[in-house]
Amino acid sequence: MSEKIPWWRSSVVYQVYVRSFADANGDGTGDINGIRSRLPYLRSLGVDALWVNPWYVSPLNDGGYDVADYRDIDPRFGTLDDAKRLMAEAEQNGLRVIVDLVPNHTSSEHVWFQQALASGPNSPERARYHFVPGKGDHGELPPNNWTSVFGGPAWSRVPDGDWYLHMFDVTQPDLNWEHPEVRAEFEAILRFWLDLGAGGFRVDVAHALIKGEGYPDAETEAQEVLSTPSGDHPLWDQPDLQVIIEEWRRVLDEYPDKVMVAEAWVPSWERLANYVQPGKYHQTFDFHFTQSNWRADTLRKTIETSMGASGAVGSIPTWVLSNHDLIRHATRLALPVGTNLRDWLNRRVDLVADVELGERRARAAALLMLGLPGSVYLYQGEELGLPEVHDLPEAVLEDPTWARSGHADRGRDGCRVPIPWTREGNSYGFGDNGSWLPQPPQWGEFSVEANEEDPNSMLSLYRKAISIRSKRLRKDEVLDWIDMGNDVLAFRRGSDTLCVVNLGRDSLKLPEGEVLLSSVPVDDGFLPTDGAVWVSIES
Ligand code: GLC
Repeated sequence: MSEKIPWWRSSVVYQVYVRSFADANGDGTGDINGIRSRLPYLRSLGVDALWVNPWYVSPLNDGGYDVADYRDIDPRFGTLDDAKRLMAEAEQNGLRVIVDLVPNHTSSEHVWFQQALASGPNSPERARYHFVPGKGDHGELPPNNWTSVFGGPAWSRVPDGDWYLHMFDVTQPDLNWEHPEVRAEFEAILRFWLDLGAGGFRVDVAHALIKGEGYPDAETEAQEVLSTPSGDHPLWDQPDLQVIIEEWRRVLDEYPDKVMVAEAWVPSWERLANYVQPGKYHQTFDFHFTQSNWRADTLRKTIETSMGASGAVGSIPTWVLSNHDLIRHATRLALPVGTNLRDWLNRRVDLVADVELGERRARAAALLMLGLPGSVYLYQGEELGLPEVHDLPEAVLEDPTWARSGHADRGRDGCRVPIPWTREGNSYGFGDNGSWLPQPPQWGEFSVEANEEDPNSMLSLYRKAISIRSKRLRKDEVLDWIDMGNDVLAFRRGSDTLCVVNLGRDSLKLPEGEVLLSSVPVDDGFLPTDGAVWVSIES
């Protein structure tokens, strides 16, 4: 008899970007009580868990990834009691709550950084961060050539002459993970949230933490880590960070059934697999999947390699199509294969997204992803078919990328526009008093209300797919490829279900069996281009 498969190996997790999900107190910003009010919706979607983006006390210079107090909730999102209530009510609804852990950096408003500023160079307070003297005759040059992921230099100088490291915004100083106090503090933070009932953690920039010894110059910009073939960069994926993961895992293992998922942008599956070896993370997002072109050969290679690399260390892939950092996939898939997405967003290429094509492919992509073995993370709004809002007025852009890139990169606000719940009304049901980012006029058509009126909507497709997945596809982790032509992805799950995606130009004759679900009408017995179908092949 095989052992029971742990829940997280086949879970569907729903990512809640708190600020943009539901606003209960009508201040234009989503909040925890908004999430609580929408638990029935999440339950009806059939997901196993929520991952909530950072909700801690924060100046929100980077949407909350700049944490001033890891043990309390920002008043704009609610209170610690609200968070406790959410976790308890979620549990009553069969949902776990995964909290976002931000260990690489704090906010500059964190008490440790304030103490570091108040104390002088070489003080113990500064040792918790990376305070370093500059180069040049008077220390007037930064310690090295590292750049910030958001643009500009990764070092800023304080009035007494020291420089401090910030891989992201100037208000996000990097912590020194060689320092025992930093390590002890984060173990305590893990326990704090686990004791309150958290289901686990999504760990922010999990491939960061440790910096190259002696702060050597980098050969590439920090943003280019994924396109650097060797993946070697003194800011990323340093071998010593693996020990930290083991320390955290030991803490999690003291609590039953918890999960820890890494956000690790590393260029190869081999490197990624290091994070999910026994005794380390349970899961690590496979961002290669988000970057694979809509082509059968590319997708198949991604799926095979991901399954092979994770399987070799006893793990299982973690699929994701969209999140709060990426251009929404309904829009990605609406652009010609190979388009440089940032160039498109920043209007350096003149291309109009084909909205219908994007929607058709997004529907097929959902059935592909939900048909695969492993865990799936959904980003709020993808189940409604939300596109990227690529034309937000410049005046409302908040992502620090916009300012730090000298207004060259519009950043990530376009995937963070608040959720439409109703066809009409104030902020389409998001809240009673507008929304922190403007919603476009067509937003009501994507609302939950509009989706629920249509049995063939994106939401209906997701609900049905998640329900069928939990009944038929979670019992085992087996995938067998079937050859149905070069432009077709076809695989059998277990003994009784077939998943077919047609990426070719011609319609494809449906295989024998009962159609369980399809992303397009297949009544004529054919699967059209960019369609996907799940077929029962029970004998
Ligand atoms: C991660 C988050 C992103 C944030 C960055 C810095 O990549 O997903 O939103 O800006 O880390 O914390």
